Amino acid sequence: MKNSFNIALIGLGQIGNYLYNELKTKSNDIYIKTGKKIKVVAISAKNKNKKRQFKIDKKIFYKNPLEITKNKNIDILIESVGLSDGISKKIVETALKNKIHVITPNKALISKHGDYLSELAEKNKVNLEFEAAVGGGIPILRTIKESLATNKITKVYGILNGTCNYILSQMEDTKDSFSNVLKKAQQLGYAEPVNPKLDLNGYDALAKVKILSALSFNKKISNTKNLMEGIENIETKDLEIVDQLNYRIKLLGITELINDCLYERVHPCLVKKNTYIGNVNGVMNAVIIEGSPVGQSVLQGEGAGPGATSSALMSDLLSILRGNIKYPFGISKNKRKKVKIYDSNKFSNALYIRMEVKDRPGVLSTITKQLSKYKISVQRLIQIPDHKKKTASIVIITHNANELNSKKFLKSLILNKNILKTPILIRLF
Ligand SMILES: NC(=O)c1ccc[n+]([C@@H]2O[C@H](COP(=O)([O-])OP(=O)(O)OC[C@H]3O[C@@H](n4cnc5c(N)ncnc54)[C@H](OP(=O)(O)O)[C@@H]3O)[C@@H](O)[C@H]2O)c1
Repeated sequence: MKNSFNIALIGLGQIGNYLYNELKTKSNDIYIKTGKKIKVVAISAKNKNKKRQFKIDKKIFYKNPLEITKNKNIDILIESVGLSDGISKKIVETALKNKIHVITPNKALISKHGDYLSELAEKNKVNLEFEAAVGGGIPILRTIKESLATNKITKVYGILNGTCNYILSQMEDTKDSFSNVLKKAQQLGYAEPVNPKLDLNGYDALAKVKILSALSFNKKISNTKNLMEGIENIETKDLEIVDQLNYRIKLLGITELINDCLYERVHPCLVKKNTYIGNVNGVMNAVIIEGSPVGQSVLQGEGAGPGATSSALMSDLLSILRGNIKYPFGISKNKRKKVKIYDSNKFSNALYIRMEVKDRPGVLSTITKQLSKYKISVQRLIQIPDHKKKTASIVIITHNANELNSKKFLKSLILNKNILKTPILIRLF
C-alpha cells in the first residue's frame, strides 16, 4: 500500500472550507496515527475569488471540478457541494469510475443514488464513505457497519435534524412563534438563510432515515413515497398544551422492520418528558438503535456544523488511509435485497388532535360522531374556550388509532364548517 495520498476537495462552503483547514493543520496527526502522508493537491468551488474563512492556496484551484476527477494523481476526492444530482453526482460518479476513493457528507446524493454509486465503488475496488451524511459528528454509520455488524437490528429512530430540534426547543422555552424562532435560528446559522424548507418539512431527516435503513437492515435504499411531515404547522399553543400533559414535541425519524417489511417515516411526535429522547434539546441530534443481542444503544451529539461534520469526514479519511476497504453499505451489493414496504395504512398510533372551532352548541357532538364512525376512541378531551372570539380549542388525545382511519377522520374535519382551520395532528411515540 502507498505511503502518501493526494487529496482533492470540491466545495469550499461551510463544510469544505473548515475541512480544508483541518486537512492542512492535522496532517502530522494523521501521519502519526496512520503512517500515511496526505497532501491537498486540488480544490474547487464555484467562485475562485470568494472570500473564505481560511486562507486557501489558489494555485491548486480548478475552475472545472470534473477535470480533477480525471487527474490520475488524485487518490481521494472529497465532494462537499451538496446537490442530490447534477454536478455532485457527476463528480462522484466519474471519480469512482477512475478508481478514486470518495468521501462525501452529501445525504441528498447518497439517499437518492447510493445504490448505484456503491456498485461503482465496489466494481472499481475503492471506498465510498459518507459517515457525515447522517448525524453530523455522531459516529453512527460506522457503529452500525462495524461495531454492531453481527446484530440483528430491528429499529432505529431519533432526532436527525438539529434545525427542527432547536426551533421546537426554543418555542417551548421562550413561548415565541415559529416564524420568530426560525428567524433567530437563521441569524445563528442553525437554519439555511435563504431556503430552510428542506430541513423544516422533514426531507433532510428522511434522507438520513433512508441511509440508516439500508445500512441497518442490509437492504437496498427504498424509493417509495414515505410518510414525511415537518414542523411548519406546529404552534406555540401546541407546545404549551402538551407541556401540561407532560409531553414535548420532537421531530423524529423512525425506521423499523415490521413482519420483515420496511416502515420509514419522519413526523413530529409527542414524547414523554421523562424519556431519553424527550430530553435531547436544542441543536443536538440523537440516534437510538434497537438490536439483538446488543439491546438498545444510544448515540448523541452535534448533528451539524462545520466542526462536527469535519470530524466525521476525517474519520472517513483515516479509514481509507488505514486500508479499510469495505462495501459502502456494509455488505456486497448482491447480498442487499430489494425492500418489501410496510403498508403504513395498517399502522396504529395514539394521536394528539387540536381543532379550532366555533364555540356553539352541537359542535362537539359532530366531532365525536366522526370519531366513532372511524373507530377512534378518546383517551382525553380538553376544551379551551376563547370567550372574546367566541371560539374554542378542542384537544383530543386518542387511544391507538389506525392510520387510514385517522386520515379519513382528519379529512372529515376539514369539511366540517364549524372547524375554523386545518386541525393539527401529532402522533404519540
Ligand atoms: N452545513 C452543515 O452543517 C452540514 C452538516 C452535515 C452535512 N452537510 C452536507 O455537506 C455538504 C456541503 O454543505 P455546506 O453547508 O458546506 O454547503 P455550502 O456552504 O452551500 O457549500 C457548497 C459549496 O459548493 C460549491 N459549489 C457549488 N456549485 C459548484 C460547482 N458547480 N462546482 C464546484 N463547486 C461548487 C460552492 O462554491 P462557492 O463557495 O464558490 O459558492 C460552495 O463552496 C452538503 O451535502 C450538506 O448536506 C452539511
